[in-house]
Amino acid sequence: MYKIFNTTQEASHYTAQRLLTRIQANPHANLGLATGSTMEPVYHRLLECLQREPVDLSQLTTFNLDEYIGLDAEHAQSYRYYMHQHLFNKLSIPEDKINLPDGMAMDVEGACQAYSEAIRGAGGLDLQLLGIGSNGHIGFNEPHTCFSSRTHVIELSEQTRLDNGRFFVNKKEVPTRAITMGIQDILEAKEIVLLATGMKKAAIMADLFHSTVDEALPASALKQHSNVTIVLDCEAASLLPQQVFNEAVGIMEGVR
Ligand code: GLP
Repeated sequence: MYKIFNTTQEASHYTAQRLLTRIQANPHANLGLATGSTMEPVYHRLLECLQREPVDLSQLTTFNLDEYIGLDAEHAQSYRYYMHQHLFNKLSIPEDKINLPDGMAMDVEGACQAYSEAIRGAGGLDLQLLGIGSNGHIGFNEPHTCFSSRTHVIELSEQTRLDNGRFFVNKKEVPTRAITMGIQDILEAKEIVLLATGMKKAAIMADLFHSTVDEALPASALKQHSNVTIVLDCEAASLLPQQVFNEAVGIMEGVR
């Protein structure tokens, strides 16, 4: 299902509201969280909502999608740092209920296996939030990742290192490897919300729309899932066929 909004702000607010609704409906929820610049206004809005309308977060559990290998919690580009900066430092989720892949693990393979087991042990993800890479990756599942994958180490593609290079002093500093939740882990979430905003996501969103289920485009795995919402602003939706807008118009106000 597509939800298309005029502005990035509206799309982000809607996404934050989906998270909030899930938390309010089930204070014991397991949330799968994402990073990237797309998610910053989502977390900002979520914090605003929680300030206005406090909710008990002490029973919530979070699992982040991915982490760079070799960046510790103090590194400003590690996803652990990102999550604490943008969300966790401002919320009262107990530290032991916050889960991120450990990019500094000595036994990285063991840590990957333990991560997927922890998700399943917690009862699975109630809602998984996703962004998308310009090459269609979800988490850090790069093109041609097996759709039955569990948490694993991934060699980052040149495209991803180029895209994410904007956060680092220079491209050489962008890690070459990461740990990512696997596509199978993601597909087992009860509900998935993918958010994409801005012109730079327009081409991949059109590719995704037209694609069959194909490991060359990781996000196409979502077509196998029965409860996925794709949330877009007008720019990210701008290359989609009119038909998608027509179907979304009935749901959203003020589109096109
Ligand atoms: C990174 C993350 C993804 C994220 C993607 C998009 O590669 N691993 O989970 O979806 O970037 O990032 P942005 O929102 O900055 O475009």
